Amino acid sequence: MRYPCQLWTVKRNRRLVLSAALVAGAMLVGIAAVNGQFPYFPNFIPNGILFPDPNGASQTYSTNGGGIDQTGPFFQSLGTNGRTCATCHQPGDGMSVSAADVDLRFLLTQGTDPIFRTVDGSNCDHNIDVSTIEGRYSAYSLLRTRGLIRIALAAPANANYAVTNVNNPYGCDETDTISQYRRPLPSTNLRFLSAVMWDGRESSAATGTTKMSFSNFPDSLVSDLEHQSLDATITHAQGDGTRPTAAEQQEIVNFEMGLSTAQAFGNNTGPLNTQGATGGPPGLLNQPYFISINSSINFLLPQLEQPGGLVTPGDGQFTPAIFGTFSAWQNLPARDPRAAVARGQALFNSLPINITGVAGINDDVSQGGLVAGGIPSLTGTCGTCHDTPNVGNHSFPTPLDIGTGDPNPSNWSTNLGGLDISYLPSITVCLTDPTTGLPTSTCKTTSDLGQALIDGNFDHVGKIKGPILRGLSARAPYFHNGSAQTLLDVVHFYENRFGFTLTQQQESDLVAFLGSL
Ligand code: HEC
Ligand code: HEC
Repeated sequence: MRYPCQLWTVKRNRRLVLSAALVAGAMLVGIAAVNGQFPYFPNFIPNGILFPDPNGASQTYSTNGGGIDQTGPFFQSLGTNGRTCATCHQPGDGMSVSAADVDLRFLLTQGTDPIFRTVDGSNCDHNIDVSTIEGRYSAYSLLRTRGLIRIALAAPANANYAVTNVNNPYGCDETDTISQYRRPLPSTNLRFLSAVMWDGRESSAATGTTKMSFSNFPDSLVSDLEHQSLDATITHAQGDGTRPTAAEQQEIVNFEMGLSTAQAFGNNTGPLNTQGATGGPPGLLNQPYFISINSSINFLLPQLEQPGGLVTPGDGQFTPAIFGTFSAWQNLPARDPRAAVARGQALFNSLPINITGVAGINDDVSQGGLVAGGIPSLTGTCGTCHDTPNVGNHSFPTPLDIGTGDPNPSNWSTNLGGLDISYLPSITVCLTDPTTGLPTSTCKTTSDLGQALIDGNFDHVGKIKGPILRGLSARAPYFHNGSAQTLLDVVHFYENRFGFTLTQQQESDLVAFLGSL
């Protein structure tokens, strides 16, 4: 079943645009190059507009004024290199950027769109030639093919580990500043966050921001997002720290906090809110949330309780039925594509997964430092970690290492191998001896240090937050490092990582569900 998209804006379909690129190119380039805004729309995008993506279309609703006002500071160049927040957080891409659309922007602007800046858009910022289109094509290859931004951070001075080796295929192999390659997180659905950034750095005492807890939420989230908007302008847009002003920061955060994004239309299913289903952003507008609302693992983590801080109201109230969005479709005839989405939802909610080797849940208690979990294995589901009802991020603020950045998956339940991350750097860090300060023989090799690069804790190497799962179709590829090009790659990763096997039917049901979120 295929439904035509009816709105005026989506006469444009992705394939059509690609083939018409040469014709439309000159015009779009003109507009896109002016300020890096989403080029296809006038300044106001009313709620309800469908943005096409490979699986159908997403929608982004704003509770401020019935639509997205593209004249606010989020859409203004506040730094020196022409970038705006929307350069990397586009309404048409679920407030992130898909690699396919970045590639299209390269094509349309010959690699001069503001996203293509050497400060963090190129694979490395030195020994590159961006004066020719060929040079830019190669210098921005990770951004074009995986949608990756280079996040360069130094290990904290008090880290209990030493970076002993960095093997970076693009030349940024300094050991004092580590280049990590990360996907822009969607700047939408933010009121469901329990930590800001993949490594939580914008909600961590280590960066002078707030460690979120039940008792300080949502004030902590709002102040972290204000801080984040300033940091983002200084780093990505090479700003001088004077903008966004305090008033602009507030305006940016009001704007972001008012956004809700979800897939609204499926190529196979049609509208995702028919016959009792509640897909699309309206289904999210009244979704309740608080920190640890449905956490199943916080009771395992008494060590994380801050004195007088963390209250864990979710204790004992965990429901594994994380998503109910498509429950109404479960009794449709099995052949109906909507029944497949409901079956995928049931798998997400109930498929047993033997969770082992995940730092943050299964850590070895003997390792020292802040040790979490300490249980060698746990039978859970997808929702053990993606527990926020109908949203799917981790409601408890603790990042986990599930092995997405692991070049040598030796601690996995299977030896089936991980994702292909050969395009990423390989970084070796070793625990240091507390008395001599010299590296010991306890070492880890990873492509991303995750939380350890923020708090300096060796036990936190590779720990990444569980992101929001709405609007996935608008923002491929997946995982912090873009290592899963498709949702099927994501599902295959979990089968290999945790040692379970799905039938082809189950795989495609789960993919249909994830693609409808
Ligand atoms: C050059 C691309 C780029 C630009 C420009 C940019 N961002 Fe981001 N944004 C990213 C990346 C990459 C991440 C994830 C980085 C990480 O976690 O290490 C991110 C993360 C975020 C997050 C965190 C969301 C979450 O789930 O934790 C928010 C909020 C955000 N950006 C808002 C903004 C705002 C506001 C601006 C403008 C002031 C902005 N960004 C400019 C690339 C960009
Ligand atoms: C042990 C905890 C855990 C379990 C179990 C788990 N996930 Fe995840 N998931 C995570 C974490 C952590 C991330 C972020 C990892 C990264 O980006 O490298 C993630 C990321 C994802 C993403 C990518 C989102 C994005 O924005 O790129 C998808 C999709 C996903 N998980 C789906 C699933 C499904 C489906 C299942 C069940 C088959 C599942 N997860 C089971 C912890 C878990």
